[in-house]
Amino acid sequence: MTGLIQFDEKTGVFHLHNQQISYLFAVEEGGLLGHIYFGHRLKDYHGGRAYPRIDRGFSGNLTDISERGYSPDTLLREYSETGFGDYRLPAILIKQENGSQATRFTYEGYRIDKGKPKLEGLPATYALEEDEAETLTVVLVDAVAKLKLSLFYTIYRDRAVITRSCRLENHSDVPVFIDKLASMTLDFTAQPLELISLPGAHVNERQLTRETIRYGQKRLVSRRGTTSHQMNNAAALVSPQTNEFFGEAYGFALVYSGNHAIEIERDQIDQTRVVIGINEEQFSWQLSPKESFQTPEVVMVYSDKGLNAMSQTYHDLVNERLVRSYKHQTRPILVNNWEATYFDFTEDTLRPIVDEAQQLGIEMFVLDDGWFGCRDDDTTSLGDWFVDKKKFPNGLSHFAEYVHSKGLQFGLWVEPEMISVDSELYRNHPDYRLEVPNRSPLLGRQQFVLDLGRKEVRQAVIEQLESLLDQGFIDYIKWDMNRHLSDVYSARLDGQCQGEVFHRYTLGLYEMLEYLTSKYPDVLWEGCSGGGGRFDFGFAYYMPQSWTSDNTDAIARLGIQYGTSLFYPISTITSHVSATPNHQTGRLTPFATRGDVAMSGVLGYELDLTKLTTAEKNLVKEQVEDYKSIRHLVQFGRFSRLMSPFEDNRAAWMFTNADKSEILVFTFMILNHAQQPIPLVTLNGLNTDKCYQNVETKEIITGSELEYLGWYEALSDKDFVSHRYHFKEVKGGDSR
Ligand code: GLA
Repeated sequence: MTGLIQFDEKTGVFHLHNQQISYLFAVEEGGLLGHIYFGHRLKDYHGGRAYPRIDRGFSGNLTDISERGYSPDTLLREYSETGFGDYRLPAILIKQENGSQATRFTYEGYRIDKGKPKLEGLPATYALEEDEAETLTVVLVDAVAKLKLSLFYTIYRDRAVITRSCRLENHSDVPVFIDKLASMTLDFTAQPLELISLPGAHVNERQLTRETIRYGQKRLVSRRGTTSHQMNNAAALVSPQTNEFFGEAYGFALVYSGNHAIEIERDQIDQTRVVIGINEEQFSWQLSPKESFQTPEVVMVYSDKGLNAMSQTYHDLVNERLVRSYKHQTRPILVNNWEATYFDFTEDTLRPIVDEAQQLGIEMFVLDDGWFGCRDDDTTSLGDWFVDKKKFPNGLSHFAEYVHSKGLQFGLWVEPEMISVDSELYRNHPDYRLEVPNRSPLLGRQQFVLDLGRKEVRQAVIEQLESLLDQGFIDYIKWDMNRHLSDVYSARLDGQCQGEVFHRYTLGLYEMLEYLTSKYPDVLWEGCSGGGGRFDFGFAYYMPQSWTSDNTDAIARLGIQYGTSLFYPISTITSHVSATPNHQTGRLTPFATRGDVAMSGVLGYELDLTKLTTAEKNLVKEQVEDYKSIRHLVQFGRFSRLMSPFEDNRAAWMFTNADKSEILVFTFMILNHAQQPIPLVTLNGLNTDKCYQNVETKEIITGSELEYLGWYEALSDKDFVSHRYHFKEVKGGDSR
């Protein structure tokens, strides 16, 4: 293999490159690392972008250099620190014994390794073959504080991806406090940039938002102890002219499920800095002598072909080098009883739903909240992961056997991070919850959060889950989390270490997930947090799919799924057909539209199948049958967004397989209007020489017509209408 990473000893320039991208930085005077370039692949670098020496007022100079044109305040940096004249966003803040937070890290050396090492205790993307990636470690030292900072960069051979993280080691003989240690800094040259982020709320997740980056700082954060519905931990910087198909886009996704901060600052000379990592608010980590701290990883993607290409790079990476179980395996079509029954069910009342599911071709039954302890509402029993004998007099295995006897798989809901006061776990261990001494903790959905940073707490939950899973009747687990952290204080840590609790919670959770998902690799694990509150790359490492939102309304889902697809592949996005009026919005939408939205993700049903009319049952049967024939294409095909519901009264997207012989298009018209413009649909990324047949109408059409000419959509006299178009290549067709 020709190397993917070069270091030029003479110029001090590092060049990470593959056929698609180049990433360049250099060791500058005084041992600072200066960022040079991240973008389209360069064949070589001959020094054309040396950072100019310009004397600027109030931008100080390093005493050991005393060159007035060279200032840490303006130089594009690889990793930003504080205290020595870089007044922009710092990536690192270390409180030292003398109280100072200033650090000055200088270059010490580097190494290049094949492959990609694991991050101890943290989820991360991986390399399977040694030759598919190279990892650069650049070592910086602060000689006064005796700290060593290693910056890690991995470049894949065939992807427009660079991953970054760093590790701090304390080589002094006194403890220091890490007040901030971001995973990365990336500085952009002076240029207009826009930020695309995914803010939201419970039942309104990942609402794609685009704004101009102006002077000052912008922070996209979570302080909730988890990724949150409110602000996802992935974002993109784009040129103003970038759209789905054209233009430059830089994506950033943090592989982490705790508090995050994506910080952006446009400086005095229009350069933009991005710093991403663990949110430093309420964070402080005591690093004792000889100890080290590893940050989570950031996955950076570059595209010069618009947002779809950026997303597709992420989709491939997640499917191929982040997800570990059920990799490339299509997912069963399930029915979940939550919106069908809520807490009100018994084995006897559930059986007819199972029977109906079997009739309709559904492949799995998921038993949601309410099966354990004595949980008839949300006030009780979290922490008691044993069956409610009132609802299942013959035990859970008996019901699971029934489900299996019908040829369906059996799935189960759990919420292992939580505790109800009315539970055996709480009665035996009232100190297991997060709680600040002498203060009454905040209730969230009537429940409290377990202190997962403590081993004995994790163990108490793991043992219960093992005793369920060891029985072998569970094929799927939905791992839920229905409130955010508050009262973040651990009974097991000293006062000066309470700033560690948030991160220790996440590390403890990851340890549990690593243990359980490795012990039960055949179980299909689905992440969930009140819907899509923990939709992130960290969770995807353990759980290959995630409940996208508690909002099952088809029209609301257009935006939620569109926004989610910016970073996350369709294989991770679960989507269910639910009843009307919709339980979250009260909206009435056609059954077919609900089907088309849900079939654009990992399909499931979330309604009482026994209450459907015969016509609706026939529709379900058809949808299930159709989905089985297209699900590989949907879940693992190339997904492209065509029309955004955030910009228009319409939405459209398409799926193509690897050789472009099959195309599936979904279009949605949201509201009907009088004198509606006639929507035109054109496709993207096809092989324009191929000839296709519309599977339904049997019409023949060329790829060039689909891509450039398109077709007029039939107008409808209704709101909320969807269409599905399925094309397959015809060999030897007339392509003139
Ligand atoms: C969360 C989930 C729902 C459902 C309920 C049960 O809100 O997102 O799908 O499981 O919990 O309490």
